[in-house]
Amino acid sequence: MKYVIGIDLGTSAVKVLLVNQLGVVVQEISNSYPIIQRRPGYSEQDPEVWVEQTIHALKELHQNFTEDTANIEGISFSGQMHGLVLLDENNEVLRPAILWNDTRTTEQCKEIYDVIGKERLLEITKNPALEGFTLPKLLWVKKYEPALFARIKTFVLPKDYLRFRLTNKLQMEYSDAAGTLLLDIAKKEWSTEICERLDINLTICPPLVTSDEMVGELSAEIAKETGLQTITKVFAGGADNACGAIGAGILQEGKTLCSIGTSGVVLSYESSSNKDFNGKVHYFNHSAPNTYYTMGVTLSAGHSLSWFKNVFAKEVSFDELLANVEDVPVGANGLLFSPYLVGERTPHADSTIRGSFIGIDASHKIADFTRAVLEGITFSLNESIHIFREEGKIIDTIVSIGGGAKSDTWLQMQADVFDAKIIKLTSEQGPGMGAAMIAAYGCNWFETLQACADVFLKVEKEFIPNEENIRKYKELFGVYREIYSTTKVLNEKLLSYRS
Ligand code: XUL
Repeated sequence: MKYVIGIDLGTSAVKVLLVNQLGVVVQEISNSYPIIQRRPGYSEQDPEVWVEQTIHALKELHQNFTEDTANIEGISFSGQMHGLVLLDENNEVLRPAILWNDTRTTEQCKEIYDVIGKERLLEITKNPALEGFTLPKLLWVKKYEPALFARIKTFVLPKDYLRFRLTNKLQMEYSDAAGTLLLDIAKKEWSTEICERLDINLTICPPLVTSDEMVGELSAEIAKETGLQTITKVFAGGADNACGAIGAGILQEGKTLCSIGTSGVVLSYESSSNKDFNGKVHYFNHSAPNTYYTMGVTLSAGHSLSWFKNVFAKEVSFDELLANVEDVPVGANGLLFSPYLVGERTPHADSTIRGSFIGIDASHKIADFTRAVLEGITFSLNESIHIFREEGKIIDTIVSIGGGAKSDTWLQMQADVFDAKIIKLTSEQGPGMGAAMIAAYGCNWFETLQACADVFLKVEKEFIPNEENIRKYKELFGVYREIYSTTKVLNEKLLSYRS
């Protein structure tokens, strides 16, 4: 039997999947790492930790593997998007990576609009200037760490750095480059106009490759350290959301994904770059050849639940925490939660807004709060679905992956809130599975990614929306949508009290 490895470099952990030619996940290893938050709004990680934890996982995978490692034909990657990794002339890391959920760059987003103009930026990059994207982070370093900025030889994104360390080859691939705000999305080239007008040296932008390009093989040092072979082909891979989409079979017009990891996204396939959503949702290059996707993002999706558990229910497991949620009625006995723990992206691009519980009553128990958190995250994702529907998209079936697809109660809640059939696959590891599929396609196991999806992806269960719950959630969603406007001013007043 032949195998491929999919490495998903996430925000909370690296997950490594060993997948066989039938699409069966035969090993799944996850190693976690922390986020460094030196100040409110900051979110950083040490790239060395990504590399160490990935090597540990590959070693463990090798130790558990009883066949000839020459049968592991290919490796590919999925990675947290937008993170800025800065390298000097020796390709040494210059500072901790600034991550996608870091919101320190509001001033730089304004600078981008002032210099480039909102319309022109949308024309070139198809996206607005948001704090999480990479270009504002580069401009922040330029302003606040000028000596370090002067030493930059190349910038890369998290999984591109990891791939570099495994192969000694340095490139960036299109689906991730799309999230930098420096790529001309339709032409698939770095925008000289944006670089020149913002005084960024074009030479720091690395060579661009497609997701399925074989960029090299495992280096001799890494092969020795992990026990894998230098003949293992390494393919570029993609942004985690693009890979999540591949791993959920979002490869045709009309297909929609809901992915709940640290962030949460609702993503829809696009065959061309010329639709106009006016920047209301993100518009990026897909990892499937010459296609695109549009996407709305909830910054703290799974993060809201893990935050809630860490602060209020540390001693119980996630399963225990979710066990009683089903017994709480729709609407959590009058409790509503907005998941704006680190600000928000869709539909409110706002780094100042923060979360709320509305309607706390002396009778509420931990299960009411837990249900309210799950409902609040799901309402936030429904805002993206609402935008897609307003733009004329038909969304009647959604594939759900990530942590949100591990609980049947949450999956049924998604069906009821989204008013759509929810599909759960046999593997909820969308991004890692997508990376493995890119490797399988790159190794020529299949003629197309769709052919690979036909073999690798299987439906485990479907969740049909319940009419009575749809009605209740429609009403509650209306109330939820008022939370943003009613708490915005309050949060602005509280801003100076954040330490
Ligand atoms: C997408 C985004 C997040 C990260 C999470 O724009 O910022 O979904 O990709 O890893």
